[in-house]
Amino acid sequence: MKKFTKFVALASAVVMAVACMTGCGSKASGKIVFGTNAEFPPFEFVSANGVIDTYDGIDICIAKQIGEDNGMTAEIANMEFDSLLVAIQNGQIDAAIAGMTVTDERAQSVDFSIPYYNATQVIIVKEGSDITCAADLAEKFTAVVQGYTGETCITELGYKYESFKKGTECIMELVNGKCDAVVIDSATASKYVSDNAGLVIVTDEEAFGSEQYAIAVKKGNTELLNKINATIEKMLEDGTIANLSDKYCTAE
Ligand code: ARG
Repeated sequence: MKKFTKFVALASAVVMAVACMTGCGSKASGKIVFGTNAEFPPFEFVSANGVIDTYDGIDICIAKQIGEDNGMTAEIANMEFDSLLVAIQNGQIDAAIAGMTVTDERAQSVDFSIPYYNATQVIIVKEGSDITCAADLAEKFTAVVQGYTGETCITELGYKYESFKKGTECIMELVNGKCDAVVIDSATASKYVSDNAGLVIVTDEEAFGSEQYAIAVKKGNTELLNKINATIEKMLEDGTIANLSDKYCTAE
């Protein structure tokens, strides 16, 4: 009996070692390529001094930690938000970490990790605006970012809007009086408002439900998904993600 247990233990150790070797072997480079769209502070942005290919933010820290926990380098591939899911499907990137909201539609083409952040859509308006809730947008002109859940929200409400490639373009439209409101994720909105005088946030929790951010991987890539989930779980439990969000949300 004892011998048998020993044998089983040894056999499973061998199986695990081989699995690890092939696992590492399949990614000979020892890196995980994370796709993102670095136009979404405080989750991802081109770092302060604008050095090309240098990214910072909550998601970037999480990606680096996932790499570190697995003895691999986390490489960041910056691309349009709209391209991320396709890039996963065609193997150009291993995962997408981009403040990406879990939606049923997206879950049809990729697998999502456990969520790591709760968000909601909010409305950014100019100080003194008469917009006080989502319903007020019916007669107004709203700017959203193409492909973001903010666009889905305004489409579902049936209101007219124009979509732009970047959040900062929407903010410029608002600042220049070309639109009345911008609908975008809460933490990013706070960042824009603190960076641009004369803007305020209007919330409407009832109209805009809550959203959860998660990391996306190719359908069926449970090997990577398990690694990602293990790190997220740890970072949620030990307060690292809360600390990161404090750090990046209050940082000037
Ligand atoms: N949470 C929103 C969504 O999933 C916006 C995410 C935008 N992220 C970015 N890195 N640009 O659609």
